[in-house]
Amino acid sequence: MSEARTYLPETDTLDNEDVAAAYSRWAPIYDLTFERVMRPGRRAIAAATARLDGTLLDVGVGTGLELPMFAPHLDVTGVDLCESMLARAAQRVARERLSNVTGLVRMDATCMAFPDSSFDCVVAPYVLTVVPEPDALLDELARVVRPGGEIILVNHISGRDDPFSILEKWLDRHVAPKLGWRPQFPWQVVSDWLDQRQDVELLDRRPLAPFGLFTFIRLRRLPQNAVTEAAPELAEESEFA
Ligand SMILES: C[S@@+](CC[C@H](N)C(=O)[O-])C[C@H]1O[C@@H](n2cnc3c(N)ncnc32)[C@H](O)[C@@H]1O
Repeated sequence: MSEARTYLPETDTLDNEDVAAAYSRWAPIYDLTFERVMRPGRRAIAAATARLDGTLLDVGVGTGLELPMFAPHLDVTGVDLCESMLARAAQRVARERLSNVTGLVRMDATCMAFPDSSFDCVVAPYVLTVVPEPDALLDELARVVRPGGEIILVNHISGRDDPFSILEKWLDRHVAPKLGWRPQFPWQVVSDWLDQRQDVELLDRRPLAPFGLFTFIRLRRLPQNAVTEAAPELAEESEFA
C-alpha cells in the first residue's frame, strides 16, 4: 500500500464503519436522490467498457444503477461494503433479468478476496471519495485487473482554491462521516499515486456533465512486457496533468 498523503484528509474524516452506516441510511432513498445527477458518469463508464470483452468488476456497485447499462456480452461482478445497497442491486438484477451479472458480493474494496489479475476490466463509479484510503483502493483495483486491462473511474475532483473548494473543506471536516463521502478530493491524490506506479498509465481524463462536477478517468495496467519508465511521462502528457 502507498504511504498516506499529507494533503488528504485534514482530519480523520471517514472510516469504513461510518461509510457502511451512512450508505445503510442512504439505501432507501439513494436512487431517488442520485439516479439522475450521477447518470452521465455511469453512462460514460458503460460506454467505455462496451468495446471491451470478458470479465468486468464493478467496485462499489451500490444499488446497481449502472448494471443495466453494461453491454450484455460482459460478465459482471459487483462488490460493495454495504449490505442494504447490495440487496437493492440484487433486486434490480432479478427485476431486470440481468443474466450477465454473475456475482454480487459484500467485500471491502480496499482489501478484496479476488486473486491478482482476476478481471479484464475494473470500474469504480463514484467510489474514490468514499473510501478512507483512496491509495489503497487504487492499489487494489490495479492488483485485480489483468495486465493490459483497464481501470475506469468517475469521481468528483475538487477545483483549486475557488469558493466551492473552501466550502468543500468545511464540509469535509464537519459532515463527511454522516454523508459517507469526502466532499474535497484533489486530483493530486490520483496523480501522485500514478507517479508511484510504473505499471499504470493514464489514458483519459475529462470533465462530465453536469457542469464538470464529475471527472471521467481511464487508466490501464500496462501489459507485463511494457512496464517501463514511460508510465509517469504518459500521465504528465495529459491535458489536465
Ligand atoms: C456513491 S455510491 C456509488 C454507487 C454506484 N456505483 C452508483 O454509481 O450509484 C458509493 C458506494 O461505494 C460503497 N463503498 C464504500 N466504501 C466501500 C468499500 N471500502 N468497499 C466497497 N464498497 C464501498 C458504498 O457502500 C456505496 O454503495
